[in-house]
Amino acid sequence: LSSTEVDIGQIQEGQIVTVKWRGKPVFVWNRTPKDIEEARATQLSALLDPVARNANLPADAPATDENRAAKDQEKWLVVIGICTHLGCVPIGHMGEYDGWFCPCHGSEYDSAGRVRRGPAPENLAIPPYHFVSDTKISIG
Ligand code: FES
Repeated sequence: LSSTEVDIGQIQEGQIVTVKWRGKPVFVWNRTPKDIEEARATQLSALLDPVARNANLPADAPATDENRAAKDQEKWLVVIGICTHLGCVPIGHMGEYDGWFCPCHGSEYDSAGRVRRGPAPENLAIPPYHFVSDTKISIG
């Protein structure tokens, strides 16, 4: 009831798809090698929020790309599509950091969904999810 299965087999490289989970938008991004490389090259000291905010990991896990991307499936990024400032829905593939731009007050997120420009205080949250198969995830 509270979980949502998503067929990710049709999501092209580079494409972000929005699905609903518990009434919230969730972004599922099939990242390109360039997106991954950029996220992995970012020093933790450059991040505004150093915590992974990944419901699948301990609460104090650091916000490395490895801790943000899907386990063993690094091209997949699954985040709740709600700006951590005041709850607007950010726009994908926009902004200086190649992730999301929030049109409400200008926060920007990178290709790991980590906040890089405020006023948003936290990285986009990662919901509990797991792979059911290579082409299907279950959120919740
Ligand atoms: Fe996104 Fe304010 S709600 S920046």
